[in-house]
Amino acid sequence: MYGIVNKSIEELVVHNFGAEKWEEIKTKSNLDIEYFISNESYDDEVTFVLAQTIAENLNIPLSEVLKSFGEWWILHTGKNHYGYLLESGGENFRSFLLNLPAFHNRVMMMYPKLMPPEFQVSHVEENSVHLHYLSKRKGLTDFVYGLMSGLGKFFATEVFTTHITSVQGENTHEIIKVEWK
Ligand code: HEM
Repeated sequence: MYGIVNKSIEELVVHNFGAEKWEEIKTKSNLDIEYFISNESYDDEVTFVLAQTIAENLNIPLSEVLKSFGEWWILHTGKNHYGYLLESGGENFRSFLLNLPAFHNRVMMMYPKLMPPEFQVSHVEENSVHLHYLSKRKGLTDFVYGLMSGLGKFFATEVFTTHITSVQGENTHEIIKVEWK
């Protein structure tokens, strides 16, 4: 994944636990990388190892690390660096979700080698949708829950998520009911 993702994880750790804790996590991750460059591609493994090491070091479940990172991605990295993108994604939570399938097309203009997730929406109601999250990667569904929660806060909307089903297949395909009020 692009370095911006790992850099954002670094900022999350430094913000909450300090620079020393980040150095400790970096050392324990055995990555041999001094600092991340936003628009350089890194092996996905780097991101997974970082998240796993944070979970072990802070003694919290990996699912919680990924959820916190999802919120952080929207409320800090997204808001501070890509505010214009988030704002052009929709005027409220509902329209943002309906536009989400096309969102990473615009991200790709900045990051041409992006391997983006795919989102689809079905069962569209006034206050809920079924969100389909598809990816060639595995293990990031909790990140998506965190993203939904972060977007809810971004739009000052109460958001509830319920897992509906995992569609069996080679790639990830999770169906999540997203409700808001
Ligand atoms: C704020 C602006 C955003 C930017 C600049 C951005 C950029 C990126 C980048 C660089 C990656 C790594 C993929 C790669 O390098 O190949 C990524 C992954 C991802 N993004 Fe975004 N993104 C943004 C917002 C969102 C939003 C709003 C969502 C959904 C609500 C989202 C969902 C994801 C997911 C789930 C992944 C993990 C990759 C996967 O599942 O395969 N992103 N994004």
